[in-house]
Amino acid sequence: MRITIVGGGYVGLVSGACFAALGAVVTIVEVDQGRFTALREGRMPIYEPGLEALVATSRTAGRLAFADSIEEVADTDMVFLAVGTPSRRGDGHADLTYVFEAAEQVAAALTKPVVLVTKSTVPVGTGRRLAELMALRRPDLAVSVASNPEFLREGCAIDDFMQPDRIVIGSDSATATAMLCELYAPLTVKGARLLATGLETAEMIKYAANSFLAMKIAFINEMADMCEKLGAEIGDIATGLGLDHRIGPQFLQAGPGFGGSCFPKDTQAMVRIAQDAGAPSRLVETVVAVNEARKAAMSSRIIAACGGVVRGKRIAILGLTFKPDTDDIRDSPALGIIHRLVDEGAMVSAYDPMGCNHARFQLPSRVNFCEDSQQALQGADALIIVTEWNEFKMLDPVAIHQAMRGHVVVDLRNIFHGPTMRAAGLVYYGIGSAPSPLDVRAEAETQRLSYAG
Ligand code: UDX
Repeated sequence: MRITIVGGGYVGLVSGACFAALGAVVTIVEVDQGRFTALREGRMPIYEPGLEALVATSRTAGRLAFADSIEEVADTDMVFLAVGTPSRRGDGHADLTYVFEAAEQVAAALTKPVVLVTKSTVPVGTGRRLAELMALRRPDLAVSVASNPEFLREGCAIDDFMQPDRIVIGSDSATATAMLCELYAPLTVKGARLLATGLETAEMIKYAANSFLAMKIAFINEMADMCEKLGAEIGDIATGLGLDHRIGPQFLQAGPGFGGSCFPKDTQAMVRIAQDAGAPSRLVETVVAVNEARKAAMSSRIIAACGGVVRGKRIAILGLTFKPDTDDIRDSPALGIIHRLVDEGAMVSAYDPMGCNHARFQLPSRVNFCEDSQQALQGADALIIVTEWNEFKMLDPVAIHQAMRGHVVVDLRNIFHGPTMRAAGLVYYGIGSAPSPLDVRAEAETQRLSYAG
């Protein structure tokens, strides 16, 4: 089967490479010349474990090619739209500009009937609008439309594609559904569940899934705040919740708030979709509000841990990406935290195994980007863990204490063991547990020293 993927980003590039690995002949269209050139030269424009090798194998097998214009879709059976659907400035609606631009170009280039598939996350009803557009532009061709949302997590996208919990196909066209079932047959024959629904249902499953996962995170983060006041431990709370098979242990890790290119934009879009439909979702509205407030609260928490004043203090930030195993910093909690600390006069040294290059463009020039953790820690008054990269978990508490000038550690991902950190002489603050009496006394001392100037 010959398919064309429009958009060679996190979704299109991974999906295209995986479809090729499943046996389809794939052309990925990437109109951004920088990305297109990189892809043609075998360089990945995004970081995703295993992607470079998968792309190379499929290209060598002659099942994966890249193009920089949509004219290439002339001889294809299916066209997947995997272009960006960012949040529209100001109102949070999904911006479908790229989706409809691509659809217009596809309509103009077609020479035979195709199935047009939305892989990008698009508001409920978009597929219907695309079907109307195609009927208007190409009444001469039978173009059927389907929704095939992706459920890929950055950092493990290939595994998520190859071992899906479910494949969702939404369409009113039996032809489209049958062709997509054939495309995914190598996975379904191995037991992957395939759910065939109507168009709007498939579009809604995607938003409902991301909204629910985001809600789970917002919930555990609120429980973490309660733990700090009540003397409970959020890690044990998460375990206790997760052992209930109706809840499950996933997505109960308290942190600084969710980021990334999906949860923030998809929850905001869900809020708008629900409002426009006349069925507002107060739950998802609250998830958005709780998460935004939490990200801002993290900066205040850091400043409080530093005695209420960070002006002139050296603060080491470990972690810039929104999660580990990616180079993606979109909506990362680290961005707001660093802007606030710099605004308050702190001198920030930042390190991330993959995120520094992207982060440079979104952070003040005064931020000192370091080559490794040690360089960031050297002479720091405080250490802040924002992203739970494995290499940060390996840091030795005694070595941390020796490298730093001050002793405050704020661990927003609970990667360290509090008592071990305190035994090394550090004033350790995790999240979701009551501050140790030791810290309370140390904090008072820090405040006395900083006010003493
Ligand atoms: C998400 C969905 O998981 C995926 O199914 C969808 O297709 C795209 O959006 P992604 O954004 O890549 O995937 O990353 P994910 O692992 O879901 O993490 C999203 C955010 O939630 C990150 O900022 C992460 O730090 C945070 N998170 C996740 C938590 O704070 N706690 C958790 O327990 C899990």
